[in-house]
Amino acid sequence: MPEETSHAAAVQERAAAARQAGCPMFGFDPMAADHEVDPWPLLARARAEQPVFYMPEVDMWAVTRNADVRDMLRDTETFSSADAIHMINPVPAEVTIPPGCPYPDLENVAQFDPPVHTRLRKLMQPAFTPKRVRHRIDEVRAIADALIDDFVDKGRADLVTDYSNPIPIQVMAMILGFPPEAAAKFRYWTDSFFSLLGEPGLPHAKLLEIWEGLLDSDQYTKSLIHERRARPQDDMLSDLILSVSDDGSPSLTDEEITANMHAFIVAGTDTTAIMLSQMVYLLLEDRSRWEAVVADHALIANAVEETLRYRGPIRGLNRKTTRDCVLGGVALPKGARLYWMVSSANLDEAKYADPDRFDLHRKHITDHLGFGAWTHFCIGAPLARLEGQVALEQLITRLPGLRLAEQDIAWVPNLLTPAPASVVVEW
Ligand code: HEM
Repeated sequence: MPEETSHAAAVQERAAAARQAGCPMFGFDPMAADHEVDPWPLLARARAEQPVFYMPEVDMWAVTRNADVRDMLRDTETFSSADAIHMINPVPAEVTIPPGCPYPDLENVAQFDPPVHTRLRKLMQPAFTPKRVRHRIDEVRAIADALIDDFVDKGRADLVTDYSNPIPIQVMAMILGFPPEAAAKFRYWTDSFFSLLGEPGLPHAKLLEIWEGLLDSDQYTKSLIHERRARPQDDMLSDLILSVSDDGSPSLTDEEITANMHAFIVAGTDTTAIMLSQMVYLLLEDRSRWEAVVADHALIANAVEETLRYRGPIRGLNRKTTRDCVLGGVALPKGARLYWMVSSANLDEAKYADPDRFDLHRKHITDHLGFGAWTHFCIGAPLARLEGQVALEQLITRLPGLRLAEQDIAWVPNLLTPAPASVVVEW
């Protein structure tokens, strides 16, 4: 039987089994418009009745409970990251992938299991320590301030386009070591990448356009690495080039640095932008929250953490089973793709008191899964936290009277990172 036919048959068989077993979540489609905006009541029901369930629309099993997600993340032998994220759109036949190109196989730190992962992570970690990242705090603040300067006299702004989206792009370019003209392309690279991952059935012409951009980004990064090898600077690209292991294993190759630079850009741009928009929206939606932070800047860090728990930017991420196994009482076949729902695990009533309340004074406020856990815990967490804190601090200092101009926000659909389309504010 051709591969595509047998795959379609397997999906139908699993869907029939879920229907027959009376799965209460049967028909949950994370891309459906109503589920995209408000999946929370359904996910609460899943955690109570069917915490691990099959989604035929995307051929994945959703994992919704905090404890199951933690069990899954801890066991990298059974729940592999290799090939866990994959492009759901095909590479067009006209596209020729040059050797050493990080796409479409995504050979980066997020996609490897130990021991390959361990070597890469060790070589990269020094570039991401809170201390190393924090020494650029004044430049991060200057970026946020310059953006506010651009709209402060208008009395009204769309925070998504005017503030949240540009901050991580400019900060990442500065910290990684890309010049501003490349930063202008980051959003396009990131959007293209997430479209290939999360928007099924893209038209052929769009695919060709996206691939042209991705191949261009590969070439661009390789030539930048070449320059830095000749003249290192105070940036992350140079840190990675100069990084040496203490156990004598080889340093990072140009291909590894390219693949991981792109991983940082796609992992750190949209996620941080969405977090910034969400955080300000959540604070303004109930203005007593905003006023609490304006009155007490010590709550800024808590606002970032509680946003990551309550409505973090990542709806769900992937793993793939390496053998038949059981998770949350459900038997999973070898090769099953899992969609572990960060967003649901962070609202689990078995883990958090009053989980549906946005609480700036929550105890153990950093104890959430917004940055994952264990082996693949987000390497960029110190940078994301810094950006979140500085961006909020500058807003509350310069525009303490900020308020929402429109109560409801529209969403841009995506399986992994649905994003607010706009957050219009006035002052
Ligand atoms: C609010 C912003 C961010 C959120 C919510 C976030 C979330 C996450 C999560 C949940 C994981 C775990 C993935 C898994 O286990 O499969 C992860 C991993 C990762 N993140 Fe982030 N991230 C953010 C910002 C960043 C930034 C700014 C960077 C880079 C500069 C970054 C780079 C990475 C990388 C490279 C990994 C893979 C680490 C590994 O596999 O060892 N992230 N992130």
